[in-house]
Amino acid sequence: MKRVIVTGGAGFIGSHTAVELAEAGYDPVIVDDLRNSEERALQGIAGIIGKDPEVHRVDCTDEEAFARVFEQGAVHGVIHFAAYKAVGESVAEPLKYYHNNIGSLVVLLRLMERYGVKRLVFSSSCTVYGDPDRLPVTESAPDRNAMSPYGFTKVVCERLLRDQSAADPDLRASLLRYFNPIGAHPSARIGELPLGVPNNLVPFVTQTAAGLRKELTVFGDDYDTPDGSCVRDYIHVVDLARAHVLALGRLDGKDVPGCEVFNLGTGTGNSVLEVVRTFEEVSGLPLPHRIGPRRPGDVPAVYADPTRARDVLGFECRYGLREALADAWRWQQALAGD
Ligand code: NAD
Ligand code: WQD
Repeated sequence: MKRVIVTGGAGFIGSHTAVELAEAGYDPVIVDDLRNSEERALQGIAGIIGKDPEVHRVDCTDEEAFARVFEQGAVHGVIHFAAYKAVGESVAEPLKYYHNNIGSLVVLLRLMERYGVKRLVFSSSCTVYGDPDRLPVTESAPDRNAMSPYGFTKVVCERLLRDQSAADPDLRASLLRYFNPIGAHPSARIGELPLGVPNNLVPFVTQTAAGLRKELTVFGDDYDTPDGSCVRDYIHVVDLARAHVLALGRLDGKDVPGCEVFNLGTGTGNSVLEVVRTFEEVSGLPLPHRIGPRRPGDVPAVYADPTRARDVLGFECRYGLREALADAWRWQQALAGD
């Protein structure tokens, strides 16, 4: 079996990707110290794939501890999720973000060089586009130095990967720019586990519906968008996870460029108020919400042009907003049942 290291494999997107890798015949090797995830994600993965995955509770910035994972058997490739991701926190604690997000990639690339591992799939973000001039946004839109220290760590990591792949002609890296990942595995065994009050829209919505939060605040209804609330491209996490398997497979090809960038989104923009309405429809519950002020740093609208991922990776989304919200709600209910 081909061992594929999944850093951050106990996290939201990593856990779903570990499942898709296993279902595609790879052997996911999870490297995660559970700093932003829980043991139950590992149990959930095991429940879905029918066996315990190989897990190493290791800090990816600890080079010698991480090296031991490479020493335990040949590594086919790496999918690197491990990072911090809270935009607001990155403004308050930039060093934490620069250290972990850039530091873990530097360590990983040094180890890949040391152990001759040549395939890397990297978690980037649509945040690198900032507030784009044109929608839908294509991969050739200019980077806008991002709006936050978090976003800038992704810009720096992308640049590092370009430089490293230029220096090492055998290295192949796929840079995946996710739009807004939501939802959960349809089995409701794994999903998003926000610690504390969620920053992101959909966990806040499901927690409000579950009675854990009083009401959702819609951050602004005076944007220049069809209904005044912000527009985003919400992609089901299982679709997103599947795209990683396709991206990894592409790195086997002979004539693949050293570094390629792909948008991963549905291509459809939905407003916050549409998300609220669609959630009410799929759950059959009213969602208490009120309109509040804009959130600093939010861009009015961003959604993907997904053409390149379709044409080059053969990636197309199987799920839409309704399914994603239904799965997020099923997951929230499974959590409440514990
Ligand atoms: P997550 O926090 O759920 O998962 C990240 C995992 O990495 C966690 O399990 C955490 O414990 C682990 N981790 C972090 N630093 C580590 C370290 N130094 N050593 C070992 N483990 C470490 O986040 P997620 O939503 O699954 O995001 C995964 C990746 O995707 C991140 O790189 C994030 O920036 C990127 N991304 C996420 C989103 C999103 O909205 N969720 C959007 C775009 C990009
Ligand atoms: C979605 C929409 C909010 C909460 C973030 C990062 C981005 C990427 C994905 C990592 C926005 C509105 C939210 C609430 C609301 N992550 N909202 N009330 O900001 O689009 O993207 O996650 O790379 O970099 O910035 O996602 O889920 O926070 O917000 O009205 O309580 O929901 O204003 O329009 P965002 P989000």
